[in-house]
Amino acid sequence: MIYDNHGRPITYLRLAVTDRCNLRCFYCMPAEGIQYMPKKELLTYEEMLRMVNLMASMGINKVRITGGEPFVRKDLMYFLRQLRQIKGIQDINITTNGVLTTEHVPELKQLGISSVNLSLDTFDRDRFKEITRRDEFDKVKACFDQLNAHRIPTKINAVVMEGKNTEDIIPLAELSRNHLVSVRFIEEMPFNGEGSHYPVLVWTHHKILQKLKERYSDIQKIKDAAHSTSYNYHIPGHKGEVGIIAAFSRTFCGSCNRVRVTAQGTLKTCLYDDGVLDIRQLLRSGVADEEVKNAMKNAFRQRPKDGFEAESLRKFSNPASESMSTIGG
Ligand code: 5AD
Ligand code: SF4
Repeated sequence: MIYDNHGRPITYLRLAVTDRCNLRCFYCMPAEGIQYMPKKELLTYEEMLRMVNLMASMGINKVRITGGEPFVRKDLMYFLRQLRQIKGIQDINITTNGVLTTEHVPELKQLGISSVNLSLDTFDRDRFKEITRRDEFDKVKACFDQLNAHRIPTKINAVVMEGKNTEDIIPLAELSRNHLVSVRFIEEMPFNGEGSHYPVLVWTHHKILQKLKERYSDIQKIKDAAHSTSYNYHIPGHKGEVGIIAAFSRTFCGSCNRVRVTAQGTLKTCLYDDGVLDIRQLLRSGVADEEVKNAMKNAFRQRPKDGFEAESLRKFSNPASESMSTIGG
């Protein structure tokens, strides 16, 4: 097991397999999209597998596949099958927008994927189109149903946006009534490729909770998992749960066990940093495994204590404003 310079174990890798996406969510990209990386600048699956193998030998036991939209990358299922073979990786999770996912759900089940996070900010078809700038709600709904039918543990990620979907908070929370899902409301972060949408964030975790309490006066706080980023609640009578992620307020950094690797192979030891190690360059330079591991270890041992420190140490652009699709969600 490897610990960072603040005594936090590093056990969780979030790996972006592409920076491309088939939606254009308001909170993630400008309407015209972002400049995508040329293919040769992305890590190959073989490079990713080598890297994950090395990380597994350092104590990483959980991998989340993110993007962009992971299923936009060709042969993702091939990669997942290989990833499943890596000793030490107990949990594989996927974050997806669900547009291309439905047909793969049976094999995801077969592979023992631990859980799927479905990005879905509204259950209203028109507002879905307005927020994502694409008319794909029906496909995402089909994916949700298919995940449920296969009993794959599912979380819904809903970014709460002033003036866009606050009327969806209760209808989304209602999904937890009859489904074994966790519906998580996320504070909007400035990771949209153009900078913050607001002078101050209105829909903070406090305000989201207040909204839930107005409708569900008997809502109960439940115990959060050890490294959870969400505050979790149960509404009496509901099968599932609801949660709130203070992604902008950054209240959970003290127990952060995660690192990220972007699609082009840049290591980030915090969501709010702008990259601390070029793993791709190391992998392509022909150095031995031990050297790659040492470089990663060094980076793990110089982590900022929280997202605020990480943001203040950024070298290239300050404050943070790149698209979540570039970063890896
Ligand atoms: N603020 C908060 N959450 C975001 N996500 C993407 N962009 C943002 C943002 N600007 C979330 C999406 C997705 C996950 C990968 O990150 O909801 O589920
Ligand atoms: Fe971890 Fe950084 Fe996110 Fe905090 S802001 S939880 S340190 S990734």
